[in-house]
Amino acid sequence: MRHLMSPLDFSVEELDQVLDLADDIKKNPEKYAHVCEGKKIATLFYEPSTRTRLSFEAAMMNLGGKALGFSSASSSSAAKGESVADTIRVVSCFADICAMRHPKEGAPLVASMHSSIPVINAGDGGHQHPTQTLTDLLTIRSEKGRLDNITVGLCGDLKFGRTVHSLIEALVRYEGVKFVLISPEELRIPDYIRDDVLRASGHEFEEVIRLEDALPELDILYMTRVQKERFFNEDDYVRMKDFYILDKEKMRLAPSDMLVLHPLPRVNEISTEVDSDPRAVYFKQVQYGVYVRMALILTLLEVDIC
Ligand code: NCD
Repeated sequence: MRHLMSPLDFSVEELDQVLDLADDIKKNPEKYAHVCEGKKIATLFYEPSTRTRLSFEAAMMNLGGKALGFSSASSSSAAKGESVADTIRVVSCFADICAMRHPKEGAPLVASMHSSIPVINAGDGGHQHPTQTLTDLLTIRSEKGRLDNITVGLCGDLKFGRTVHSLIEALVRYEGVKFVLISPEELRIPDYIRDDVLRASGHEFEEVIRLEDALPELDILYMTRVQKERFFNEDDYVRMKDFYILDKEKMRLAPSDMLVLHPLPRVNEISTEVDSDPRAVYFKQVQYGVYVRMALILTLLEVDIC
């Protein structure tokens, strides 16, 4: 039985197969409409979510299965003091697969150790968010045509942004990827990503503060929200929250084929006037997220498609 805690749990070849399957699902949804009949996904969300939880549930329903779960710690027995280990033992009796989001780094990993069903990390604190990464990779591959030989700018809260950490770990496995890390001093990428992932991989990367300086050379701009819930004090958050605002004027500095991605939710970091720019693919990205989660469910459940 396999779980998904980090994008590295799949080899590059396995990841390609998941993305290929997602492509096929996109093209032939009817072929997959009943393949998970009788199966259930449990979504155990101890932290807020709109996209990730609903897209897991939609993914299972699109496959003919059903979904159950909870959307906040306060509505689960966690509020009574139940451990993640006990919760997953119980949920293993109700469902065939589960997606867990938790504010504590490593909680889904603990769950996976006590589970008799596959566990998917749907975001653990400021650590990892592998299914957002699958979504991002599918979006880039589909809209750009490749995952290698690209210059990727990651902008915003690189310190607490788990989607950024997972995406970098996944992208260093492709050739010719150059990273431009755009953040204020206080929200720089954690040392373990800079040293153990970026430096160790030998990929070219630079850290800059001004988005304007980076824009002209980018193939992909990955914008992120300042992660309010991970700040220790409100003042720091208020000082940082509008540090970057991508607007029409800044988009003029970007190449005509640069793509703008964002895991969403957006707060102020992308002005709504950018939404109609053909380079803005962040809402398309949400749709890719459903296809790739369908592909992931099929892969982890080892469902045979005839
Ligand atoms: C992200 C997350 O939860 O880390 N959201 C998502 O799943 N699409 C990004 C964020 O909350 O900023």
